Amino acid sequence: MKTVVITGSARGLGFNLARFFREYGFNVVISDLKEENLVKAKRNLMKTKYEGKVSYKTCDVTKLNELEELLEFAVKKFKNVDIWINNAGVNQPQKAIWELSKKEINTILDVDLKGCIYGSKVAMEYMSENHSGAIYNIEGYGSNDAHMLGLNMYGTSKRAVTYFTESLAQEAEIKNTGVIVGKLSPGIMITDFTTHSLGDNAIELSEKTKKVYNILGDKPETVAKFLVDRMIRNHKNGVKINWLTNGKAFVRFLTAGFNKKNFFE
Ligand SMILES: NC(=O)c1ccc[n+]([C@@H]2O[C@H](COP(=O)([O-])OP(=O)(O)OC[C@H]3O[C@@H](n4cnc5c(N)ncnc54)[C@H](O)[C@@H]3O)[C@@H](O)[C@H]2O)c1
Repeated sequence: MKTVVITGSARGLGFNLARFFREYGFNVVISDLKEENLVKAKRNLMKTKYEGKVSYKTCDVTKLNELEELLEFAVKKFKNVDIWINNAGVNQPQKAIWELSKKEINTILDVDLKGCIYGSKVAMEYMSENHSGAIYNIEGYGSNDAHMLGLNMYGTSKRAVTYFTESLAQEAEIKNTGVIVGKLSPGIMITDFTTHSLGDNAIELSEKTKKVYNILGDKPETVAKFLVDRMIRNHKNGVKINWLTNGKAFVRFLTAGFNKKNFFE
């Protein structure tokens, strides 16, 4: 039986990835900042009966030693880690860069960029020893060089995550590690991330933004199902698994007049 470890998975995309990996018979290790949220998430995952087991461990991705402990925990529990997903992330307050505090800047870079680098390092050390495994990192706004007021630090992090992941895939190949590395691009999902910055501070979304989200956005479970299906079938290094392609976005805008979705009622 295979095992997947997902950071930041008490809710949102990470939780739903865990849910669909279970359907494929995986053992899942969920992890997040707060134990009580993980207990709740595990309870929800266990509501559906699948063979795969669910375990949890708190892990702050800004701390390398906690990621090392998470890997050790998963290996002890399930003997192996086959897939590792660096999913934990925070949104930024909708402010220009000079309006952010030093603490806010550091939190965004530490979670969104360094958390992904640390997680990849820990997983790669382990998987390259075993000459097998897959690491996936999550792209986001800015990965494709888009710019927007209020998303500078988040976009900087995600642009760097994209560069980092492509370089890691190249390193994995050159060093003949037997490990594959890929990018997951989830488009726009209506989660706590969309409506809150730095974890818990509510973001006041404009009517225009809500309209765009209603057209382009999806529930995290819809996106997670697609991403898990593709990850399960992927054996190639350096892939990008992309939910909201340009073609899909174009059709969504073209048919927006018929769109009945309203995530903000
Ligand atoms: N929601 C979107 O529209 C969207 C779009 C593109 C990319 N993404 C990316 O998808 C990923 C998941 O986002 P989501 O929408 O599910 O968000 P979410 O806020 O619902 O979930 C993120 C999780 O990460 C956890 N987390 C935050 N800081 C952490 C830390 N230091 N250590 C460990 N866990 C931490 C949170 O507690 C939370 O459970 C993120 O990387 C995000 O950047 C989201």
